[in-house]
Amino acid sequence: MMRIGVLASGRGSNLQALIKEWQEGRLAGDIVAVGSDNPQALALKRAEEAGIPHKGFPRSSYTSRQEQEQAILNWLQEQKVELLVLAGFMRVLSEEFLREFQKPVLNIHPSLLPAFPGLDAQRQALEYGVKVSGCTVHFVDEGLDSGPIILQEAVPVLPEDTEESLSNRILEVEHRLYPQAVNLVASGKVVRKGRIVEIS
Ligand code: GAR
Repeated sequence: MMRIGVLASGRGSNLQALIKEWQEGRLAGDIVAVGSDNPQALALKRAEEAGIPHKGFPRSSYTSRQEQEQAILNWLQEQKVELLVLAGFMRVLSEEFLREFQKPVLNIHPSLLPAFPGLDAQRQALEYGVKVSGCTVHFVDEGLDSGPIILQEAVPVLPEDTEESLSNRILEVEHRLYPQAVNLVASGKVVRKGRIVEIS
């Protein structure tokens, strides 16, 4: 079974969806580590309740962001993480981190990339006036939400939508799509050919 690590900055509902699949025996891996840049994150509480090793890495404990990131990297390596899953982790991992870590890193983003990368993707979609949005699971590269796409699914944007209602509609899909993508990668069904991801 692949050893899966998760990084999350906040609420951790995507982490919870992964924990549920794991506890019900449907995840092609074991969640062995949950880290956060925010020691207050609800995600850490969820990990604790599930009996998963977890650790906060507050910026204030380190002299630089680089040092903070190195501490996260060291810990993930100590836990022998083989696949890293970003679940609402609101920091961009540096090129050095990705180069040193060497294992695949996944992210979920609440838009149909390459539309609306970065912060507040749902608000960006509403302000742009698109009629369809959704979510994307992709490999992380050194860019911002720019890595090769594994899975995407669309949801409608309705005339009466608020940021909250659209976010909730997308989130429901995220909770199904992320475990599915993690399973595809963890069971070796995903092949990367440059930007193109083939799923067998
Ligand atoms: C999710 O909607 C996720 O797609 C988004 O943050 C939310 C985290 O929710 N991620 C990003 O915007 C990354 N740029 P959660 O903490 O409940 O899983």
